[in-house]
Amino acid sequence: MSKVTDYSAKQLLNYKAELVEEYKKLSKLNLNLDMSRGKPGPSQLDKSNEILDSLSSYKLENGVDARNYGILDGIPELKRLFSNLLDIDTDDIIIGNNSVLNLIYDTVARLFIFGTLGSTPWCRLEKIKFLCPVPGYDRHFKILEEFGIEMINIPMTQEGPDMDMVEKLAASDETIKGIICVPVYSNPDGTCYSDETVRRLAKMKTAASDFRIFWDNAYVIHYVYEKVNVLNILREAEKYGTEDRIYYYFSTSKIMFPGAGVAMIASGRKSITEIHRFMSVQTIGSDKINQLRVFNFLKNVENINKHMDILANCLKPKFDVVLDTLKHEFESTGLCRWSHPKGGYFIALYTLDGCAKATVELAKRAGLILTSAGATHPYGNNPHDNCIRLAPSYPECDELEKAIEIVCVCAKLACVNKLLNKDLLDV
Ligand SMILES: Cc1ncc(COP(=O)(O)O)c(C=O)c1O
Repeated sequence: MSKVTDYSAKQLLNYKAELVEEYKKLSKLNLNLDMSRGKPGPSQLDKSNEILDSLSSYKLENGVDARNYGILDGIPELKRLFSNLLDIDTDDIIIGNNSVLNLIYDTVARLFIFGTLGSTPWCRLEKIKFLCPVPGYDRHFKILEEFGIEMINIPMTQEGPDMDMVEKLAASDETIKGIICVPVYSNPDGTCYSDETVRRLAKMKTAASDFRIFWDNAYVIHYVYEKVNVLNILREAEKYGTEDRIYYYFSTSKIMFPGAGVAMIASGRKSITEIHRFMSVQTIGSDKINQLRVFNFLKNVENINKHMDILANCLKPKFDVVLDTLKHEFESTGLCRWSHPKGGYFIALYTLDGCAKATVELAKRAGLILTSAGATHPYGNNPHDNCIRLAPSYPECDELEKAIEIVCVCAKLACVNKLLNKDLLDV
């Protein structure tokens, strides 16, 4: 296809007429599709059903009875497994309950109420700011917003957040207390941080002594096309004595059943000891039965890798449908570009500026729910209104084919309307 952005007004009008016809045809199908959240589909969930029968004993490897109270920081066999998987010392790991988001929320809450390692609790300070790489994950932004934290957009590059900007801001403003990162197959554009980015984050100077890096490694092993090894930030931080600056999160949500697995936090020894102390007031025992079930299912690193190959095989055809269609429909048009993730759960679609919200609305009217267009940015506000998160994991391929067809027609319509200076929703 030739470059639509170079079309004459007459060519644009002709093209729009074709698109309107296509749009009306699709609308008449009365579809009811949803591509909004990164949930595994039912056939992917089936690959983990074995976990439902994975509990034959309640004895832990150290003889402890998993049915009773006790053990706050995770059963030893699961801590060892995560230690081997992620190359983190077992003593620097705490296994939590089922959700990384819950652990992140608790961490922020503790920092507000108690501060960390002797620093002033954030609730006593007039302003707290965070650096937020964009596009990013709406649930992270929601947590920060809930605590009244001012969020500063940091543009993503191919190598992670714009580190010149991050270093400059973190070094110059004491009210900037942290950054929240998804370093591997990021949500939503699938970016993997370069070694240099990880090193710079680990060693950068920060004006605030209690500056913290929230390292949400949710997708570290969720490859689809290619396994990418991003540098271990805790190991890097150890070289500079900044390991307590890192809060490293991981969960099994997308490995097995979301919401029914386990989550993990790791950090430097001082931070972990502190978190352990707080937790010992919150609870007198974690859910060891679930941890044992997870351990019995995952077994060892080799087995986890085999399982991730199976999941990649579930996701690949779905990503193929979306990526191939985007290429076919948009390559060389000048209308949209998109990310090319090697893994994770999402693809980011970039329309012409100002056209993302209209695309999502047109899709909704045609029977397809997409993630709302601002969700990729703090406060739901993308100043360029150009980014849509596509989540291909839940629908089956035949539904996805229809869904992505709708996305393409709607994005084209919104963009062509913009080029024609028309109302973006005009069809
Ligand atoms: C970056 C990121 N972190 C965390 C989560 C949720 O993890 P959990 O289910 O462990 O709370 C998601 C889910 O989409 C995610 O994309």
